[in-house]
Amino acid sequence: MGPLHLLILFLFSLIPTKGSAQKTAYVFGDSLADVGNNNYLLTLLKANFPYNGIDFAGGKSTGRYSNGKNSIDFIAEQLGIASPPPYLAIASSPNNSDAFLRGVNFASGGAGIFDTTNKGQCLSFNKQIAYFSTVCSAMAEREGSIETQNHLARSIFALLIGSNDILAYLNDNGKVTPQQFVSLLVSTLQGQLKKLYNLGARKFVFVGTGPIGCSPAQRRQSKTEDCNASANFLCDLYNHAVASLLQETKSELGDLSYSFFNSSLAMLQVIQKPYDYGLTEVKTACCGLGELNAKVACTPISAHCGSRNSYLFWDFYHPTEAVSRILAAEIFEGSAPLVYPVNVRELEDL
Ligand SMILES: *[C@@H]1O[C@H](CO)[C@@H](O)[C@H](O)[C@H]1NC(C)=O
Ligand SMILES: *[C@@H]1O[C@H](CO)[C@@H](O)[C@H](O)[C@H]1NC(C)=O
Ligand SMILES: *[C@@H]1O[C@H](CO)[C@@H](O)[C@H](O)[C@H]1NC(C)=O
Repeated sequence: MGPLHLLILFLFSLIPTKGSAQKTAYVFGDSLADVGNNNYLLTLLKANFPYNGIDFAGGKSTGRYSNGKNSIDFIAEQLGIASPPPYLAIASSPNNSDAFLRGVNFASGGAGIFDTTNKGQCLSFNKQIAYFSTVCSAMAEREGSIETQNHLARSIFALLIGSNDILAYLNDNGKVTPQQFVSLLVSTLQGQLKKLYNLGARKFVFVGTGPIGCSPAQRRQSKTEDCNASANFLCDLYNHAVASLLQETKSELGDLSYSFFNSSLAMLQVIQKPYDYGLTEVKTACCGLGELNAKVACTPISAHCGSRNSYLFWDFYHPTEAVSRILAAEIFEGSAPLVYPVNVRELEDL
């Protein structure tokens, strides 16, 4: 290799390669991932009031269903990027396509895979995908469609969805069997994943549903404060079906990759050995009212605990900031059977 070649090689190495330098995430999901979209909706499903956010910067309630950050905030932190802003906060700003390129969070408290889940109270997953589609068009108009496709192919697509559909099924005590319910749910999800793929998504992070039967809301309904086994069974069925769907979709489409996180396993490990994780309380919600602080949501008139870092649950359904941090670290750096076939650090490098 002559000196000129070396010089060219050297100069080339100085050019920042857009691919590796620019990390972006697009987030879809429910209250576990909402960073403020519901603040912009006329809905009962809100969290932008105390004591939510008591441990957030400035003690501010941002619309997160947490005492502080949620797991999406921590995943973004691990990726080394700012937590993507709520879509509804930036959609109408004049230079929104700049913001769109840096990542967007579409998650909305109450959202489900089915449009009927909390209908009219949230942005359903389908609505979130529709908004994402307009985001893609705006980016393509500005950057060109090739550059936009390249950008999207490098981006992380984080999905936390399904818990509200399961809760709706449990409350409705369905006419269909759990197996029928889950197969309808996951075939709907299949169409939604295809839509995201067709818009350009290639790297998916799917966070499976936690053991809903162990939430304070479900434990409260048991005389013994035990986890509701049939609710947990439904979550297992769903998680299995999602994991299979992702595997099938990958082998069908080839150029798709994913991380699946078994939240049920992760949270059951915490519940079985809380002290290993620095926790002391895994049944009672930190903030709420009634038995296990789980009869009503966290509101300004609810009781709330002082030692929030030692609680698993912030309110009747959602984990504390401390636990979200633990889960995000596992999603990012963990290994099978918690997260597979690759973790998010590996997914990012693919
Ligand atoms: C949009 O433009 C305004 C003024 O030019 C600027 O202050 C703001 O930071 C920009 N917002 C984004 C999201 O780029
Ligand atoms: C578990 O939840 C289901 C559905 O909500 C309910 O019908 C059942 O009674 C619960 N089981 C226990 C032991 O609480
Ligand atoms: C998740 O973990 C649970 C608990 O160990 C296990 O029963 C289940 O098979 C796992 N599900 C998936 C999809 O990996």
